[in-house]
Amino acid sequence: MKILILASGGDCAGMNMCVYELIKRLKSHDLYYSYRGYQGLIEDDVKEADFLLAKKWKDEGGIFIKSSRSKDFMTKKGFSIAVENLKKHQIDKIVILGGNGTYEGAKRLSEFVSVVFIPATIDNDFTGSDYTLGHETAIVNAVNNIENIKSTFYSFDRVGIYEVMGRDCLNIAMEVGEKVNADIVITKKPNLKNIAKKLNNCDYSEKSPIIIIKEYICDIKELAKGIQTLINKEVKTVVLGYIQRGGKPVKQDKIMAKLFAQTASKNIEKNNIVVISEKNKIKTLNI
Ligand code: F6P
Repeated sequence: MKILILASGGDCAGMNMCVYELIKRLKSHDLYYSYRGYQGLIEDDVKEADFLLAKKWKDEGGIFIKSSRSKDFMTKKGFSIAVENLKKHQIDKIVILGGNGTYEGAKRLSEFVSVVFIPATIDNDFTGSDYTLGHETAIVNAVNNIENIKSTFYSFDRVGIYEVMGRDCLNIAMEVGEKVNADIVITKKPNLKNIAKKLNNCDYSEKSPIIIIKEYICDIKELAKGIQTLINKEVKTVVLGYIQRGGKPVKQDKIMAKLFAQTASKNIEKNNIVVISEKNKIKTLNI
């Protein structure tokens, strides 16, 4: 079979390991990469898979075959060029790594070529799978950074507002909040008076108060200013953002990368499937 591998949308830790494990297991087939995901399909940036390159990158963060958020792929013209290029290269199967947006593209492609989809996004919001590759690394990165920063905030009796990634889903904010023992977790429009009341009741000799806020809620600098007018403490802001998404995968993501790749490879002959995790078991469902 001619199999093409691509990643699209937000990258995450473990993607490189997953590609390496796929290449290792599928080496009896003709393997190709599309560089920069769906955009690479449109621009015909399709190259033969290089095992040594995959091996070199396997433990690193990011994705060595690159990713993109392709606007062109959403257009009728871009999509049909991508399909034409797949036909030109006589691709029998595409293995796609990504999150929800990428899955929508994968579903459209599955009408023209057989797809194997692997859920990979820090957001952990893929319907049908209780885990998405890269999520645990993002949590660990956020927790470690907050633990560091809070010690310097403690020295000054400062309050820290930490904004975490996660787009529309609450998972990351809630999990990080629990792990760092946050005083307040904000996932919707904040009420300044309630926040100030809580902060005034905190024991600043015990710890620096922690506020976790999900991204895209409000301007956190404005929020800090607003809170500061109500309490007699300095309020500092930290946007964790890409610090969470980048970096080497933690053990759980290395294991999940291997398991997802194993199941994808075992089922490679099946048409249009998505590999999912359900209560620690890796399975496949139909797209
Ligand atoms: O979907 C993954 C994610 O990291 C979200 O948590 C975040 O909102 C978004 O991607 C950021 O995307 P970009 O890298 O395009 O800024």
